[in-house]
Amino acid sequence: MAAKVHITTFGCQMNKLDSELVAGELLGDGFELAGLADAADVVVFNTCSVRQHAENRVLTCLGRLAKQKAQRPGLVAALVGCMAQRQGAELLLQFPALDIVCGPGELHRLSGLIKKVRAGASQQLAVTERLRARREVPAGLEELDVSRRTAKGSCKAQAYVRVMRGCDKFCSYCVVPSVRGREISRPLEHVVDEVRRLVEAGCIEITLLGQTVNSYCYSGDSREVSFAELLRKVGAIAALERLRFVTSYPIGFSEDIFRAMAEVPAVCNYLHLPAQSGSGRILAAMNRPYTVRQYLALIEQGRAIVPDLSLAGDFIVGFPGESEQDFEETVRLVRAVGYKNCFIFKYSPRPGTAAAKRLKDDVPAEVKRRRNNELLAVQEEISRELHRAFIGQTVEVLVEGPSKSARKGRADRRHQLTGRTRGDHIVVFDASGKADELTGKLVHVKIVDTSALTLFGELVAPA
Ligand code: 5AD
Ligand code: SF4
Repeated sequence: MAAKVHITTFGCQMNKLDSELVAGELLGDGFELAGLADAADVVVFNTCSVRQHAENRVLTCLGRLAKQKAQRPGLVAALVGCMAQRQGAELLLQFPALDIVCGPGELHRLSGLIKKVRAGASQQLAVTERLRARREVPAGLEELDVSRRTAKGSCKAQAYVRVMRGCDKFCSYCVVPSVRGREISRPLEHVVDEVRRLVEAGCIEITLLGQTVNSYCYSGDSREVSFAELLRKVGAIAALERLRFVTSYPIGFSEDIFRAMAEVPAVCNYLHLPAQSGSGRILAAMNRPYTVRQYLALIEQGRAIVPDLSLAGDFIVGFPGESEQDFEETVRLVRAVGYKNCFIFKYSPRPGTAAAKRLKDDVPAEVKRRRNNELLAVQEEISRELHRAFIGQTVEVLVEGPSKSARKGRADRRHQLTGRTRGDHIVVFDASGKADELTGKLVHVKIVDTSALTLFGELVAPA
């Protein structure tokens, strides 16, 4: 009987994609996927190191492993992803119940390592040595993306496609460059071919992924391909309805990209452009080489070129040395931009980063918490206001499935579906009995009510 594998994914979209690709590879290698971890012969944790909180959640799972293995002899446990690369052999020592530790740059080896352990081998370590010196992607790793399963009709309506790996920006707080390696862009033809196959298999929305996606630059046979050109090439694929990309970096975001966003019909009017802070002093300490004025000028340019540009941001509060005045400047920036939504994080020192080495984590926890809540409240007010303007409008929605959040006071949550507009606004609407028919489809919804998080509407007609 085939061994069953269960993968638990923590962290960002890149990890979700890695898990999907690994699952596909394992299926091709004779494994089956288990719906529940309890029914699995192999459990895989795909981990995130970006904040301590993310690591703590994984550590809780690892703490339970020894007991689980005592109850289910033969269970194989693998920890993959960013924590694997960051902590490597230490994890194998600390958690003897762990069988495999495999970094994100070695995922193509995972299937073989699982087989080895199932055949009786002891603990296996696969992390990338001298990761920052690696200038090329091993063929096997690229092959994980290239050989992605895209049988006709097998794909969901939405998919992620990697355009580059790693990050070279070295923001002082960030662990990513040391666990994901240098920026390496994938060949244009690999990306275009992957999207084409996904679209042929039924995908209508593609999100291109990169830590700093607009830094995409592929040196082909004789010339360099920019991110704007990539957008145009991918956006030209017939039957692709929506093209998104995350996450953007405020430096190197050229006018060409905004032009491509405005001119290529598939490209959505959505931009996730983290500022991280509204204080010039803190931005400098974060090693983010732009000023608030430059950031605002970029937003202004985008809004002038891309109609209805919808913006999302990331902010870190409580970075070392952040004063009340620095924080007020962040609040001011959030108000000045008018983001659709913001992801707000409390600074978490990451071992090995420049900030953790050189700067004292001197903002008390309760101050971080208060600033976090204050900024959330400011953003909530802005989102509420922006959402109100949608009342009476009809929007195009890509239906994702049954809704978890329903309109207040409505008993018929079961009949509500959720999806997103082109600008990434969440829409919930009544569609009793139509979940199977509409999931993965584009529909038109007339907005009748709104909250800070959601637009509520009524189905008009399939688009
Ligand atoms: N502490 C808090 N937030 C962080 N981020 C990255 N590193 C840290 C850290 N050490 C946030 C940034 C980034 C997002 C993915 O996570 O805002 O954009
Ligand atoms: Fe981390 Fe900065 Fe790179 Fe983003 S751009 S992954 S925050 S180092």
